[in-house]
Amino acid sequence: MAARNKQKKRAEPESDLCFAGKPMSVVESTIRWPHRYQSKKTKLQAPTKKPANKGGKKEDEEIIKQAKCHFDKALVDGVLINLNDDVYVTGLPGKLKFIAKVIELFEADDGVPYCRFRWYYRPEDTLIERFSHLVQPKRVFLSNDENDNPLTCIWSKVNIAKVPLPKITSRIEQRVIPPCDYYYDMKYEVPYLNFTSADDGSDASSSLSSDSALNCFENLHKDEKFLLDLYSGCGAMSTGFCMGASISGVKLITKWSVDINKFACDSLKLNHPETEVRNEAAEDFLALLKEWKRLCEKFSLVSSTEPVESISELEDEEVEENDDIDEASTGAELEPGEFEVEKFLGIMFGDPQGTGEKTLQLMVRWKGYNSSYDTWEPYSGLGNCKEKLKEYVIDGFKSHLLPLPGTVYTVCGGPPCQGISGYNRYRNNEAPLEDQKNQQLLVFLDIIDFLKPNYVLMENVVDLLRFSKGFLARHAVASFVAMNYQTRLGMMAAGSYGLPQLRNRVFLWAAQPSEKLPPYPLPTHEVAKKFNTPKEFKDLQVGRIQMEFLKLDNALTLADAISDLPPVTNYVANDVMDYNDAAPKTEFENFISLKRSETLLPAFGGDPTRRLFDHQPLVLGDDDLERVSYIPKQKGANYRDMPGVLVHNNKAEINPRFRAKLKSGKNVVPAYAISFIKGKSKKPFGRLWGDEIVNTVVTRAEPHNQCVIHPMQNRVLSVRENARLQGFPDCYKLCGTIKEKYIQVGNAVAVPVGVALGYAFGMASQGLTDDEPVIKLPFKYPECMQAKDQI
Ligand SMILES: C[S@@+](CC[C@H](N)C(=O)[O-])C[C@H]1O[C@@H](n2cnc3c(N)ncnc32)[C@H](O)[C@@H]1O
Repeated sequence: MAARNKQKKRAEPESDLCFAGKPMSVVESTIRWPHRYQSKKTKLQAPTKKPANKGGKKEDEEIIKQAKCHFDKALVDGVLINLNDDVYVTGLPGKLKFIAKVIELFEADDGVPYCRFRWYYRPEDTLIERFSHLVQPKRVFLSNDENDNPLTCIWSKVNIAKVPLPKITSRIEQRVIPPCDYYYDMKYEVPYLNFTSADDGSDASSSLSSDSALNCFENLHKDEKFLLDLYSGCGAMSTGFCMGASISGVKLITKWSVDINKFACDSLKLNHPETEVRNEAAEDFLALLKEWKRLCEKFSLVSSTEPVESISELEDEEVEENDDIDEASTGAELEPGEFEVEKFLGIMFGDPQGTGEKTLQLMVRWKGYNSSYDTWEPYSGLGNCKEKLKEYVIDGFKSHLLPLPGTVYTVCGGPPCQGISGYNRYRNNEAPLEDQKNQQLLVFLDIIDFLKPNYVLMENVVDLLRFSKGFLARHAVASFVAMNYQTRLGMMAAGSYGLPQLRNRVFLWAAQPSEKLPPYPLPTHEVAKKFNTPKEFKDLQVGRIQMEFLKLDNALTLADAISDLPPVTNYVANDVMDYNDAAPKTEFENFISLKRSETLLPAFGGDPTRRLFDHQPLVLGDDDLERVSYIPKQKGANYRDMPGVLVHNNKAEINPRFRAKLKSGKNVVPAYAISFIKGKSKKPFGRLWGDEIVNTVVTRAEPHNQCVIHPMQNRVLSVRENARLQGFPDCYKLCGTIKEKYIQVGNAVAVPVGVALGYAFGMASQGLTDDEPVIKLPFKYPECMQAKDQI
């Protein structure tokens, strides 16, 4: 927006421009703009309306132009411009003219006529940038950016209508946009790139209303709100999020989760029996939701245009019989070779028969047969079972088997975008969305568009902002704005919320116009690390601007998190053990090892006892184990300490005169360790040290090119140790092989980050936050995890 401060004067004769009418009274002018009428000694700061940084840091302080007097109208080319009118402003040659709201008209003390503009942004001037075509034509955004300009900058009047944001639940846009050059319904603010409702509540026709009919679900379940966790993995993000919401006083439960990985689903189910865990691809889940809605419409449970009806109403009323119900479903004689459906047990969209085509399928229990004969059957072949089908759909509808538009309060999830990973040599820079590996972002957005939840929290890797100049992040924001969601973008590092791990992730909030957009929770702990984010986005790092004013706890270290865990060897047969004599040595260890019943986790599920789960390291083969034994137990040790490695100018090489051998006859120093980053890396076979903060917990545990060896034991960090670095409570047991468990833990959103975000969401959803993009947390992790009645 720098150009906006460098307006060129119009060429037109000055006489065409002047203030109109008499000056405003001195009293009124000095009351409204006191900073313009200061003596030289006592100049106030201009009310810039620039980002009000919490903590009080002054940014771009403006020199205050002093005024002789103020006016409430001006004449430009014979056209009367009133205060608060919208105008075109002379732009750069060959470019579109700027647009602004006139918020002050005054004669400066040097006699020059001035005005103050509050700027509008076109979509292409915002984060949305190249995706402006996704946003409705004529739509602009009012910003908080203001500055003084000579009156000569005004080109002409422009007609910009303020309209309320529409109701999102409706598929058809119900509002009428009046005739205008542009219209606006949202504000755009640069810190955290907010798009928020422009409605300040003063407009009677506003769609903003706390008791809006937008969310019929909320009316049904006043004290309980439903969360859908997409790409849920083992459920770390939603586990943290629901705990955070509960601290704020909101009862949010993960009602549904979806993930393609079976073991991750098993883990989620084990720890969250309350969740309907769907082990399927998100794209199939979306197809299923559409089919489910149709089924619910077929049995008159929902109308085809309106959101879901009240369940209580349904219980009172008898569901109308459908005329087309076949007699066969009511006990007619079976033909030879025919089987009778006893009941339906499940539903999915897929191709279990391997026909090459995915369709709606139902799991059938056959009359007279046990569960070993259950089969998936295509819906198209079940025409004779309408009565049983109706029973199944009504039961499913009542129990919220699947979400319907209007029943989901919040969706959280991190659509995997593997096509943007820095490790992917074949990244499609030009058209990232044509890359199959990035398609899940579109699936995620389609699910949002279908379900229209009140809130969305989307998580992703920082490459979302780095890759192709933030292509996917911009696309996501543009899509949300086009769907009329308010949005906000930020980055949060796990270490800033009480973990000895650096992992930095992008989080995008979206909220319906009727809701308060949640803020970002400010860090609670120091992390002395500068993250490699594009300059353009560096202020999205939550707390970066406020850092010097925050009172932060010291960063946690590896020893703080794992020093109490009993020593284990390279091979641990059992995934359950006792803590034995091991007692927590730190605050962190004290709380992370609480029994499930002592935590904010849902009462049922998991293991009620206090036992230690998954304290098993990846079993290294004999060769790697022997190599690990060569790494001294000291800070900074790695493969360079193996016999036969020379280091010159920070570059490792093999000693040509001495090649040490393992018992197997292989080289002690593997070639891949030497060649990794051309011998410059210190990561291969790196030993961690207790005073360190771990980089990012990844999904693999092989020590070949990463620093994962335990400080004092000859083995890699165990699954449980990694889980602690991600903030999983010890009672959260994982399913699958050791490798599968590492994958679940490495994929997870750090639990305390989820908790912090859940708290911010909970406060916003109760209207307990202001318009600031950040909020202070009144707790620290993991103490906050302790259930109140346990304190
Ligand atoms: C980064 S992980 C999510 C971690 C999770 N949010 C947590 O905090 O534990 C991404 C997940 O997406 C799943 N996934 C990948 N492709 C999928 C698809 N097409 N449909 C559903 N899940 C998918 C993976 O199995 C993986 O568990």
